[in-house]
Amino acid sequence: MSISIKSKKDIEKMKIAGRKATSVLEMLKNYVVPGVSTAELDSLAFKFITEELKCIPANIGYGGFPKTLCTSINNVICHGIPSETKILKNGDIVNIDVTVIDDEWHGDTSQMYLVGNVAPHAKRLVDVTKDCLIAGIEEVKPGATLGDIGFAIQNLAETNHYSVVRDYCGHGIGKVYHEEPQIMHYGNKGEGLALEEGMTFTIEPMINLGTYHSKVLNDGWTVVTKDGKLSAQWEHTVAVTKTGYEILTLGE
Ligand code: MF3
Ligand code: CO
Ligand code: CO
Repeated sequence: MSISIKSKKDIEKMKIAGRKATSVLEMLKNYVVPGVSTAELDSLAFKFITEELKCIPANIGYGGFPKTLCTSINNVICHGIPSETKILKNGDIVNIDVTVIDDEWHGDTSQMYLVGNVAPHAKRLVDVTKDCLIAGIEEVKPGATLGDIGFAIQNLAETNHYSVVRDYCGHGIGKVYHEEPQIMHYGNKGEGLALEEGMTFTIEPMINLGTYHSKVLNDGWTVVTKDGKLSAQWEHTVAVTKTGYEILTLGE
């Protein structure tokens, strides 16, 4: 197996897909409020993606996943399934993760939302996790290694006394949703694969307030922290350019 290299034209198409994915997260902003169910958010996203963006929601049917969005609240690390019974309440933190397929190309992004008034320790986790994503992205350039990305994320998380989830990682992306390479969010400088211009992948650190251990609930999808403490995640799709990186999932 080898890593696919995208042309400049391919990357332009991925940027269109990426921006459309981001527009879903922006559209949802006004609706992520106390009292809304994650199923309602999912319906809004499905309608927006299919009717406004004319795209395919990539998560539906992926490995049997039933919904458009992953909605991961508080102690849920990732892959939370939207449901009528999951009602957001004041003080929650929630990650919404969406992937669209536009003209065959995937755009994958996620962000945290604060529901009503959020406690300072939770908001801090959310903010540091975003900083971890940015620290990882800033390492991206030809010749840098996957270990450089992992180290930057792990170092910032652990300096803040948080832990980096080990069981899930970022991934190559293009016409295939999850392809090589795997992007670990921990590691050692200088180790692992060297980056090359034209690689496209996600960076999507999951950072925990307590230990990094996770478990999957009986629904077969929902990944939670073993210790029941909070977890946060942010995700961008990026391309390696001649001199560094380009984020493909930026807003307007
Ligand atoms: N979007 C997730 C990721 O960042 C994957 C979700 S797969 C699903 O890679 F099946 F759970 F939707
Ligand atoms: Co992803
Ligand atoms: Co995602």
